[in-house]
Amino acid sequence: MPTRRTVLTQGLQAGAALALGGFATRCLSQQAPPAHADEMTINSAPHAQLAAPALPPPPASLPPEAVAVSGANSLQAHARSHGMVAGAAIVVRALQSDPAMQQLIAEQYGIVVPEGELKWRALRPAQDRFDFTESDAFFAFAKAHGLQVRAHTMVWHNSVPDWLQNSPKELDVRQLLVDHIQTVARRYSGRVHSWDVVNEAILPADGREDGLRKSFWFDRIGPDYIELAFRTAHEADPHAKLTYNDYGVEYDNPDETVRRAAILSLLRRLQQRGVPLHAVGIQAHIKAGSPSSIGKGLAEYIESVRLMGLEVYLTELDVNEDDLLFEDVARRDHEVANTYRSLLSVALANPAVKSVLTWGVSDRRTWLNDGPTHQRKQPNRPQRSLPFDRDYRPKETFFAMRDCIDAHKA
Ligand code: XIL
Repeated sequence: MPTRRTVLTQGLQAGAALALGGFATRCLSQQAPPAHADEMTINSAPHAQLAAPALPPPPASLPPEAVAVSGANSLQAHARSHGMVAGAAIVVRALQSDPAMQQLIAEQYGIVVPEGELKWRALRPAQDRFDFTESDAFFAFAKAHGLQVRAHTMVWHNSVPDWLQNSPKELDVRQLLVDHIQTVARRYSGRVHSWDVVNEAILPADGREDGLRKSFWFDRIGPDYIELAFRTAHEADPHAKLTYNDYGVEYDNPDETVRRAAILSLLRRLQQRGVPLHAVGIQAHIKAGSPSSIGKGLAEYIESVRLMGLEVYLTELDVNEDDLLFEDVARRDHEVANTYRSLLSVALANPAVKSVLTWGVSDRRTWLNDGPTHQRKQPNRPQRSLPFDRDYRPKETFFAMRDCIDAHKA
């Protein structure tokens, strides 16, 4: 039986071997050039949850490679010493029978965000009812492990319950939204680092001059639903940093150039009207093998946000590797890690960036496996999109993230 010390030492050796095994020790040196023209970045989440891929059970305890990167070697320790917090999205129900994952999260992160537990579809089974079972369990988990919380999200076009979507035109949706935000934000007031008050409100393709998405909330309340949500949230929880969160701002291509401009002008309008707004979330759902590159556009976007006096959070980082047409796992992992580097080397050059969260922890669970939207080219291939593999060993991506965090100027 190996002792804890030998396990740790072996783990450290394995970690060191991995860290030196042919990939960059410096964040900036590994960016592959873009290859071809872009296609639309898909970020709308599918509603239907397909069965998770059949996997053997998770490990009963952390593998030595994961032990080797805990404590001072963790993402959170590195993030903290560079003025940031590292985190991940979790599904609290999936953790209950998985002590190794619980330990991994507690070791690696300083902040967690619920994948779905605070969305309307989870909280509102009916017009006159709230169900806090899952969200309370999420907050209890965070508290038990000393983790901060990002709360996600109060307003999102993609999580409108069917009863609300189909509600009669006479229903006062404005009042319903106010009541919802007051009830949820007050319940967790003082326990939230930041609230994603409004998620994905911009869609220039909808053709409006102000770039607003013609969503359920827009249709039923009007364009001022955004301002209403932020003002109500601030009253209900004055401690939380109120965040506008969106996707499609990462790449240098015409579509995302338009998206960035539209988001910035929304933020300016909100500031001019004195709306309480403290931070901007960049989802960072990016793709391996993307024809577009990440560079000037993202750098200028983050700098513009910084000049507005707002913080920047990388809120949902992951890499969709559906476009990689080869099977070799090490090669795929290398491409994925390089894709992380391509984003982080740009984003973390700006001191306004205060947090880095991935959308998930291990390849055992990623929303990218939930439906066909993200697996068009490789329909039966589970994505390798996150820093830990399905047995909770750190992948090249983990080390790429840590290197890039170390390059951050606080
Ligand atoms: C996704 C969750 O991961 C899924 O489990 C759920 O079915 C749908 O939503 N952008 C967001 C997140 O802001 O809320 C989405 O999360 C992923 C895309």
